[in-house]
Amino acid sequence: MLASGSGTNLQALLDDSSPDWSVVGVVSDRPHVQALERALAAGIPGVVVDWSDFQDRDEFTDAIADAAAAFEPNYIVLAGFMRILGEAAIHRFRHRIINIHPSLLPAFKGGRAIRDAIEYGVKTTGVTVHFVDEELDHGPIICQEAVEVMPSDDEATLHARIQRVEHRLLPAVVQSLALGQLEVVGRKVEGRVSP
Ligand code: GAR
Repeated sequence: MLASGSGTNLQALLDDSSPDWSVVGVVSDRPHVQALERALAAGIPGVVVDWSDFQDRDEFTDAIADAAAAFEPNYIVLAGFMRILGEAAIHRFRHRIINIHPSLLPAFKGGRAIRDAIEYGVKTTGVTVHFVDEELDHGPIICQEAVEVMPSDDEATLHARIQRVEHRLLPAVVQSLALGQLEVVGRKVEGRVSP
């Protein structure tokens, strides 16, 4: 798992034990984040590749990819990882990196998707889990679920409802990947995610 912050999606995976998969390591781009504490508490190794130590984005994301590869994962899950991976890192793990994003892509790409949805005035937003490709928040979509935007919502209340959905969808997607139920065919993902 790659994480940058609170790591509630990491926690959702840690709490969803399955005989079919396990989290083997956590890589963070920042030290002292809660995601690393959650990994430590679960007895899972966590490493920091501090983005502020690098001048060049590709060098930084190559180092992130090296750190992830050291865990020999089948898949890499971006869960609140707020950096953009370079092409080399993406090609190295082609169709083996997934991302969870707090909007119904292709609407509201980027790092402020929830605020953007509220400011735009949409009545429905949601969650997308997708494979990562070279373009930001663009790769083949695995699953999506809608979340209603209430008139009274601010970023925090909407994010809380979105996260409840994220914490259910992400383990379901990981389970489907572990069982080999998903296949990327061009822009589409074939197969289904069990609820
Ligand atoms: C999640 O809500 C995820 O959708 C979002 O960051 C949050 C991380 O939460 N990701 C993005 O905005 C990616 N552009 P977490 O650290 O508690 O899992």
